[in-house]
Amino acid sequence: MGILEWATSPLGQRVPIHIAWFLIWVALIVGLLFLIVHAIYVRYFAPQAEFASEPSSAIPELPARIPRHSLAARLFHWIMAAAMFVLLITAFLPKVGIPFNWVTYHWIAGTVLTISILFHIVHATLYLEFWSIWPDRSDLEDARKRFYRFMGKPKGLPRKFAKYPLENKLYHGVVMLSGLLVIVTGICMMFRVRTIFFPRNPYLFSDMTWGMMYVLHGLAGVGLITLTIVHVYFAIRPEKLPITASMIVGSMSREFYLKEHDPKRWVIEGLSQQRGTGDGD
Ligand code: HEM
Repeated sequence: MGILEWATSPLGQRVPIHIAWFLIWVALIVGLLFLIVHAIYVRYFAPQAEFASEPSSAIPELPARIPRHSLAARLFHWIMAAAMFVLLITAFLPKVGIPFNWVTYHWIAGTVLTISILFHIVHATLYLEFWSIWPDRSDLEDARKRFYRFMGKPKGLPRKFAKYPLENKLYHGVVMLSGLLVIVTGICMMFRVRTIFFPRNPYLFSDMTWGMMYVLHGLAGVGLITLTIVHVYFAIRPEKLPITASMIVGSMSREFYLKEHDPKRWVIEGLSQQRGTGDGD
């Protein structure tokens, strides 16, 4: 049983037509296994997180609520999340035996996702701390220390995190690549169906190119099943709830900020104006 389905083109060429749909179940099972193993590890084996301590003189004066996500960033997140769920549901329910007229809902949600991502790229580049989501040298040094601690050979304590821990940065990178892949292939695939944007043109590419396009779209798509399960799992873990809440209300408590974050690595700017507002917009 291969991971692709094949057909013979009118020219007699053997071409891939899409992924084999059992990969949907593989992606689901991998996601569920990850969360079971992680939950057991955290519950029974993980040591208490420890960070290199800062002298108390190095801790700045802070308001009760630390601004974390602007209103624009939160709106983007929830619109993108809604589009992602509609895309997953419309793409995969028909493939697992729940047929319905999915294509129109799917490309509409695809268009919403595409526009929201374009907005996010411009917004993050011009208005947010662009580099805060990319791994830096300190992340790698701390990851090394955490790894040695995990192996029972501690080599010093890691620092507290900047705005985003390394795991979040790596997750963002993988979601970004899979997201861009479904978007680029999805826009091309809109030429195969009737939309409001351009006339249908199934002859735009050769059968082989179309086949590869559907395969890449499907592979990135099933990858997003696993990535979405992992993301939702972390969002609802008890110790992560303050982070999830900050994606709704925009801010987190000073205590949580100081427990996990290094004020030198995630500098809260303009505190005097924000003090008391509880939001970072
Ligand atoms: C979470 C993201 C997405 C997932 C999981 C996903 C998944 C899928 C799957 C499994 C199919 C069926 C392909 C096949 O039959 O081989 C499909 C078709 C399609 N997708 Fe997506 N997709 C996603 C995002 C997008 C985006 C962003 C767009 C547009 C910008 C898009 C446009 C399309 C179109 C037009 C088709 C229909 C092709 C046809 O019936 O010929 N998709 N998608």
